[in-house]
Amino acid sequence: MRSIIIAGNWKMNKTIGESISMVKELKTLVRDIGDRAILVCPPATALSSVGAELKGSNISLGAQNMHFEENGAFTGEISAGMLKEIGVEYVILGHSERRHVFEEDDSLINKKVKTAISSGLKPILCVGETLEERENGRMEDVVSTQLSDGLGGIEDIKNLVIAYEPVWAIGTGKTATPSQAEEVHVLIRKVLGAIFDDEISEGISILYGGSVKPGNIKELISQDNIDGVLVGGASLDAKSFSEIVKC
Ligand code: PGA
Repeated sequence: MRSIIIAGNWKMNKTIGESISMVKELKTLVRDIGDRAILVCPPATALSSVGAELKGSNISLGAQNMHFEENGAFTGEISAGMLKEIGVEYVILGHSERRHVFEEDDSLINKKVKTAISSGLKPILCVGETLEERENGRMEDVVSTQLSDGLGGIEDIKNLVIAYEPVWAIGTGKTATPSQAEEVHVLIRKVLGAIFDDEISEGISILYGGSVKPGNIKELISQDNIDGVLVGGASLDAKSFSEIVKC
């Protein structure tokens, strides 16, 4: 019932030229896959060219961030309307690097999620605890608050996607074990049930992210509540990302 989504987050990597050659190769490698959503999230400079290259393919385009206002004096920012104009379908919001490096908080992220939904983009809201929070027994509290504050005042959730990305697993080579991840996905579904209702919660895809590779995807995706993955490092190479897509 829930869609499986395999998303690649390229972060601040790849020039336009590198992006185009990567998606050319990826398109061929995954062209027969029809039962899941595949998406790549290139850096902002490459979005437009990658979007043009992906036209007519089974790969969607995602952005890594956006501003919540439609336009105005926000130097360096990009709006939802600008992303829509170039064919962007998804937008990653509240990624741990945005939270920790750029100090985005839940109230800012909440505004972005609202704007994404009202603009017709599909937000991928990222949540996840740090190692310190986990070790101090605060994981449940942190993840629940990120969800309830990040989703406050939102009623139209039909395009909402959640990604659980434990901060300690991102780019570290340390993946959460499938059962550790599943435990948090079950918690997330419970919290979504309390925020919306159980039926709505059952329909929301919850992705796992944090050192996902071709070697660990099968075990992760076989968990009942893991409905896809958000992949950083291993999504930069067409072959390794295609192996994850084909899991
Ligand atoms: P990683 O990054 O796969 O390199 O750990 C995941 C992410 O930040 O989305």
